[in-house]
Amino acid sequence: MLPIELKESLKTRIEQSSHPKELVVDVMMAVQEHYGYLSDEALDESAQLLNLPPMELEEIATFYTFIYREPVGRYVIHVCDSVVCWMNGAESIQDYLCRKLEIKPGETTKDGLFTLLPVCCIGYCDRSPAILINKKVYGELTPGKLDSILEKLRKEAE
Ligand code: FES
Repeated sequence: MLPIELKESLKTRIEQSSHPKELVVDVMMAVQEHYGYLSDEALDESAQLLNLPPMELEEIATFYTFIYREPVGRYVIHVCDSVVCWMNGAESIQDYLCRKLEIKPGETTKDGLFTLLPVCCIGYCDRSPAILINKKVYGELTPGKLDSILEKLRKEAE
């Protein structure tokens, strides 16, 4: 169950909106922020708040890369695989991360720290190849830079 304060603040936002449907992603993201991912129960709770059928939310969640329908790690690494990053070596960046973390795209490391997910252009083409980790962008990546980023995050998690 969502904490009462969060539930009430979301309800208020929905009630005050002239187009509550426009808040679907915002509500799902807020609920996901609380639970860590959007489980079936969390999706149902979101649907109840919005007074919409869960299936409608399910359809949106399926298309929206930043809604996680499965549990994710503490750090979610979104690797851009759109054209500019691809031309600048995104493939080798993803391969390097897979080798280093011993996972495939879509998977989470055994220690639960990192999840690796491909993503469409994140708007940092001028800093390609680029990735997002928990909404923070890292660009002009090289294997060396990735090593330092992962090491820093591992230390943070200790
Ligand atoms: S193509 Fe990767 S950030 Fe735009």
